[in-house]
Amino acid sequence: MCGIVGYLGPRDASKVLIEGLARLEYRGYDSAGVAVLNGSGLKLRRAVGRLRNLADSLKADPLVGHMGIGHTRWATHGAPAEKNAHPHSSEDGKVAVIHNGIIENYRDLKGELQAAGVRFASETDTECIAHLVARHYQGDLLAAVHAAVKRLHGAWALVVAHADHPDLLVVARRGSPLLIGLGQSENFVASDVTPLLPYTRQVIYLDEGQLATVSRGQVRVFDAALKPVAHKVETSELTLDAAEKGGFEHFMLKEIHEQPVAVEATLRGRIQGGRVDLSELSLDAAALKSVRRLQLIACGTSLYSAMVGKYLLEQRTALPTECWSASEYRYADPVIDPSVLVIAISQSGETADTLEALRLARGRGARTIAICNVMGSSIPRTCDATLYTRAGPEIGVASTKAYTAQLAAFELLALGLGRLLGRPDDAEEARVVKGLEALPAQIRRLLDGDIVGVKRCAKRYQSVTNFMYIGRHFNYPTALEGALKLKEISYIHAEGYPGGEMKHGPLALVEGTFPTIAICPRGRTREKMISNIQEIKARKGVVVVVATEGDQEARELADYLIEIPPCEEEVSPILAVVPLQLLAYYTATQLGRDVDKPRNLAKSVTVE
Ligand code: F6R
Repeated sequence: MCGIVGYLGPRDASKVLIEGLARLEYRGYDSAGVAVLNGSGLKLRRAVGRLRNLADSLKADPLVGHMGIGHTRWATHGAPAEKNAHPHSSEDGKVAVIHNGIIENYRDLKGELQAAGVRFASETDTECIAHLVARHYQGDLLAAVHAAVKRLHGAWALVVAHADHPDLLVVARRGSPLLIGLGQSENFVASDVTPLLPYTRQVIYLDEGQLATVSRGQVRVFDAALKPVAHKVETSELTLDAAEKGGFEHFMLKEIHEQPVAVEATLRGRIQGGRVDLSELSLDAAALKSVRRLQLIACGTSLYSAMVGKYLLEQRTALPTECWSASEYRYADPVIDPSVLVIAISQSGETADTLEALRLARGRGARTIAICNVMGSSIPRTCDATLYTRAGPEIGVASTKAYTAQLAAFELLALGLGRLLGRPDDAEEARVVKGLEALPAQIRRLLDGDIVGVKRCAKRYQSVTNFMYIGRHFNYPTALEGALKLKEISYIHAEGYPGGEMKHGPLALVEGTFPTIAICPRGRTREKMISNIQEIKARKGVVVVVATEGDQEARELADYLIEIPPCEEEVSPILAVVPLQLLAYYTATQLGRDVDKPRNLAKSVTVE
């Protein structure tokens, strides 16, 4: 949440900042701002609402300069308002700060600064940093930022500019990602790599607690005690195409269509001769033998993939597996000890709730594995091993390809751990592996198939204000995920429920116009789902059924039928979710919603 860009070099800084922020807008979009150093000092420009408001303001009245910082905000402290938009500056206007994260002790700091006569211009926590830097500044900006940071509690990625230092940005990181992009006689700073891609793929990822000075020709990195440290320059594997819409109307639609490739890439090289090969994780089989329980921690869509993962892992490892919402885990006194293996699942690798839950688990001696999509992000850095999903950058706020890639990763992990824990079952493994290998072509077929049908279905039900999604076993999480997709991008209320639970309460909602989406592919719970659908039909409810091709009974019962290709039941959640993503997408676009940037949300939630 919140996007950061900084630039020093020969180009027009405003242009670099606005283009960079446009690539980061998915991280926060309630206000934006820049500070650019020109002949008469650091000039601030901020605007509420989407980035285009700021861009229009800069077009009408340009800020010309070669050094600047920019920010797109997702409000935490202080409502979306121009005065609360970043950058924030010191009273004399010489220091400008952009910040991602939360300063937990800002009330104390603000009180202390106000008592010393400082007047605040905003309601944000960030403004304290600008005043602290100004008060500690005695000609050395790095020393001033270091002194300011020592006073902060919480999380930050921050970039500081000073009017008296035209060739210097000082940056600091704790708890929120920050990286430096290296160009020729120019350098960049950003909260993720996408804004840098038009200029460079050479990046330095700052580590926890580090600070750095960035000028046009030099970057120096320091540890928390201000001791210079060596830094590693890495080459990002992302390409510019991956971060653009490529002819699709929205990133979400592009990402839905990228799922065959995302799943294929996640499986690639990890199946050898019909068997799962997870040697890249270097898991210690002997140490794993002491594992007695598994705990899965994640949030949102990643949590729903973990719920499928729980079933898969219990099936293959026979270890009791708990699935936790990471935001609950920390405060629920979970039983954690060295016999627990914790698996953290996250697209971004930066979700604060998941990261903190992980830290708690590590602190109590648990072993840790991540399933993550973003290389080098905080969650993989905190874990003993990482199984990367290879979905490529996910920009749409509603997660799609990361979810199906996570499900594919769980299939691999469950089979791989099962074998390492001494429970190999060659025939079962061969069956599931075959099912996995068929997936990319099957998803492609689904996407090339009845999209018109899904669109028609979306049109038919778009005026409805409540939806129920039901599924059982592997596809109960599919129901939750389908409902979440609809809620977050169309703003229509939807609930996911286990099919068998309908008769224990929610069936009371059903009447003539109430639609239920029933996920009912072939598998061990199909018969039961058919009965649940019949219970709804008997009460004159409307049912949209997601069923396996050729299921005549489902066809006869359904008011609307969406078919998926025949598959192994373990992999059915990967296929069944695709039409539900499309249903949410087309419902939202027909209602005129901003699909890639739904209201009140942001990609990558780096605050608890
Ligand atoms: C929903 C969505 C969110 C994320 C959640 C966790 O479409 O994207 O619910 O799944 O915020 O994010 P990650 O996976 O980055 O930890």
